[in-house]
Formats: sequence, C-alpha cells, structure tokens
Amino acid sequence: MSDYRSLIQKRRTFAIISHPDAGKTTLTEKFLLYGGAIALAGSVKGKKNSRHAVSDWMEIEKQRGISVTSSVLQFQYEGYCINILDTPGHQDFSEDTYRTLMAADSAVMVIDASKGVEAQTRKLFKVCLLRDIPIFTFINKMDREARNPFDLLEEIELELGIKTYPMNWPIGCGKDFKGVYDRNSSQIISFKGDSGKHEAEATVSGLDDPNLKTLIGPYLHEQLCDDIELLDGAGYEFDMDAVRHGRLSPVFFGSALTNFGVEPFLEEFLRMTSSPLPRKTIEGEVDPFDSDFSAFVFKIQANMNKAHRDRIAFMRICSGKFEKNMEVLHQQEGKKIKLSQPQQIMAQEREIIEEAYAGDIIGVFDPGIFSIGDTLCAPGKKILFEGIPTFAPEHFARVRQMDTMKRKQFVKGMSQIAQEGAIQIFQELESGMEEVIVGVVGVLQFEVLEYRLKHEYNVDIRLEPLPYQYIRWISNDEIDPKKITVTSDTKKIQDLKGHHLLLFTSEWNIRWALERNEGLELTDFSRG
Ligand code: G4P
Repeated sequence: MSDYRSLIQKRRTFAIISHPDAGKTTLTEKFLLYGGAIALAGSVKGKKNSRHAVSDWMEIEKQRGISVTSSVLQFQYEGYCINILDTPGHQDFSEDTYRTLMAADSAVMVIDASKGVEAQTRKLFKVCLLRDIPIFTFINKMDREARNPFDLLEEIELELGIKTYPMNWPIGCGKDFKGVYDRNSSQIISFKGDSGKHEAEATVSGLDDPNLKTLIGPYLHEQLCDDIELLDGAGYEFDMDAVRHGRLSPVFFGSALTNFGVEPFLEEFLRMTSSPLPRKTIEGEVDPFDSDFSAFVFKIQANMNKAHRDRIAFMRICSGKFEKNMEVLHQQEGKKIKLSQPQQIMAQEREIIEEAYAGDIIGVFDPGIFSIGDTLCAPGKKILFEGIPTFAPEHFARVRQMDTMKRKQFVKGMSQIAQEGAIQIFQELESGMEEVIVGVVGVLQFEVLEYRLKHEYNVDIRLEPLPYQYIRWISNDEIDPKKITVTSDTKKIQDLKGHHLLLFTSEWNIRWALERNEGLELTDFSRG
C-alpha cells in the first residue's frame, strides 16, 4: 500500500454529540490525554465560571454554559489520525449538528447515566438518525449513582428508535464502579486511578478468575453473572451491517471523569469504524483514495477571532491530498481560487497546516465567496457534491434595527449570519431591508442573533416574535402572490432570492389556502 493510501486508511472522522453537561468536553479531553496530545487532564477545560474549552469560541457559550458553535480537533492515537467534530449541545442548534454530521463518517452520542435521554435533546439525537451513519453510545458518569443499565438501553431504543448492543457492561456504579465486562472477550477490565488526571490503570481478568470476587465483592459478582446471563439470552444479536447503517448502536459504559472505560471505548470504536467513506455527488460517488483533491463546505463561521474579524469556511476533504496554497476549482462560481491560510485545530491550538488528506477537516479563510454545501476540487474535474438541505424554520420574528444610521452594518451582519446558515431572512412583499422577518429552527438562535449583531457588528435590534409556525414556498412561478386568497392570519413574504412564500399559523390554514386557490403548489423546502 502506498504511503498516501495508508495515510487515508488510518483516518477516522466522527462527530460527538450530547446533552449539555453529559460530558462531551470531558470525554473529548480524555481522548486527547490517551492520544498523548495533552499531558494532564484538566488543562483544556477549567472550572465552570472560567470555562474555556478548546472548542468553545463565543462569549455567549461561556455565559450560558452551552456550546452553540461546532469545531474540529485532530489528534493521533495508536497510529490512527482522528478528527473529532464537536457539535452544539442544544437542540435549538440541531441544524448545525446536522451539517456537522454531513462531514462525519460516524457519531458518538454521550449520555449521562443518571439522566438517560433528556427531553430537550431528543431532537438533537434524532438528527443523527437522518444521516444513516454508525452511532456509538457512551453512557457516561458511571462513577455517580446511575440508572439501571437495562432501563437506559430500553429508553434509548424507545426514545430514539435505534436498537442497542452493549459492547461492555458496567460493574457497579457510583463509588462502587469497579470496571466493565467486555462481552466480546468475556473479560473483566477493572480500573484503578487517581482523580482522572492521568490514564486509568486497567487490570484484565476472566469471569472465572478466583480473585475476581475479592476484587469486585461477592454482591457485584453475583449481579454481574445474572446480568450477563440475561443479556446473552435476551438482547439483540450483534450485526455489523446494522451498525454501519445506523440501525444498531454499540453501547459502552464508563466515566470520562475518572477515565474508567475511556480507552476500551476508544480502541473498540476505532476498530469498528471505517476509514473515510465515499461521498455522494450528483453523478455518482467520489472514492476517498482518488488522488485528485475534492472537498465540500459544511460550515461557515464569521468572527471566530475577534481581533481579525475573519470568516472561516470549514470543509471536509473527500478525496486526495490538500497542499497549502494549492489552486482549486470552486464549482459553484466556476472559478479557480487559492486556498489561503488553511487551518486545523491540533489538540489545543489552531495552526496553519501544510497538507491534509481525505477525511480531514480544514478551515480556510473565506473572503465571502463560499456558501454551505459548495464543492471544491482539482481544476478540470467535474465533481458536484450533493447539497446540504436546510431545515424549514419553525419560529419567526420581525427584526428592526434601532438606529437607522447603522443600516450598512445591520445589512452586513444579517447577511453574514444568514450565510452561515444560522438564520433565514425574509421580507414582506414590497418592503426594504430596514425591517425583515427572520426564521430560525430553534428560538435560542434569536438570542445568538441579537448578541452577535451587538458584539460583532455594533448594531442594536428589536425582535418582535411572530405567531407563525409553518413556512411554505410557492412552487408555481406563474402565480401572482398578490392574487392568492389566504386567511387574515397568513402572511405573504419573499426570500432574498425573490422566491415567494406563505407563513401560516396552523396546518388548517395551509389546507384552506390550497382549497381556495386552484393550482397552488406549496413545498416546505426552498428550491435553492
Ligand atoms: P458537556 O461538554 O457535555 O456540556 O459536559 P462537560 O464535559 O463540560 O461536563 C459537564 C460536567 O460534568 C462537568 O462538571 C464535568 O466535570 C462533569 N463530568 C463529566 N464527565 C463526568 C464523569 O464521568 N463523572 C462525573 N462525576 N462527572 C463528570 P462541572 O462541575 O460542570 O465542571 P468542572 O467544575 O468539573 O469543570
């Protein structure tokens, strides 16, 4: 195998998702610890009020204790080159999570063992299922009082509609969390360690080891034997094909804080996941081992660095090798461009990179030319990756700028944030940009909009929530929107591309409009 092929073969690219506080940041940090990228856990993230995770950029994230942007980390472990895509830990940003999942080949779902699947993050987890990628579950915080593992599995299956297969089984919980039983090798991995600053010390023994009872105590020993019998008799069969298509989730138990179970999880995860997968294009698939470079943009983030006011376009490399300053074709614009200042986040620092390969995520400086879903490839190639769908907004507000003298900043800020895909902008028919209607997928995005306009563009706005819940694009161009008959609580608007839309307060009103206007065709997505 050539060097180039083996470099791609060793790459793993996955997204990590969780409820806020379930332990995503801690687990990521422990991966870095095991990969040797950091020497001492705790150096990445401090106490809550001085919280400063590598992946948290925005001030608002620190204030709210949630992560609203996603970021990328790369580290090495046992010969693998691992790209972790962090995702926002709140369901109001599930669209951002979806885009990030587009760039990943698998996902890790972190669940708090005492809380299980929480109501407010159900939507976030369900987004994972839309992508048909392998989903691995890490049930965290076993060093605390945890819910019964059987109940947790049942809850995941019922709430998320995915089958589960425990790869290992916890021995006790809370202060009595002794280790895990690995079902594949039928061995016990018990742990010892300090406060989690260093790697946990693991001892491996068989279930019939005479010392085991002393090690874990007779009560836990008996319970473990009963649980294993039950699991082997009643659980689903392990089916790798179902795992690959996101229909069966391998489940691992552990504690990111104490490092118990982190390494067995990482090892097994790397063994079960594949190297970068082929990507769909309009005309077929792109093989990651193809020597010609290709990539697509899945995320755009402005003002990550306040001092530079820069805008970064994140792209997933789908094939070939990327080299600094290489010239690529930007398909959507039909232009050749030089990708300048390519960046990658290696453990704790952002650095300029010289080269990158299929599976890697790079951030490039964006002078305002990229849109989400854009394709970049070697000049002369005719590749066009399938676009990234936008979610129909579910909340609407009228946005007015307070100081009309700042019109330019207002328009710039609104347009840039809309290009990032964080909001969608609409106008009333025959109105200007002084007042616009903004649609979002989650209400927290309004808060972020207000905050960012103030802090990044120095513009104050007034948000007036609107009662609409459903948005529909009018798909027949020949219809004059002014002539459409609608109920008094339905609003006629247009998007920035001039497409006409209707905003409804109920499904009943949608039916009403369709019945009264012969030939009217409505869709719940934009034609682009
Ligand atoms: P998130 O990124 O998913 O939001 O969660 P994060 O890792 O920030 O963890 C949230 C809190 O849960 C942190 O405590 C963290 O220390 C704790 N935690 C994470 N994993 C475990 C675990 O396995 N066991 C236990 N007992 N706790 C865990 P905090 O008090 O909010 O922050 P800090 O003061 O510890 O920094």
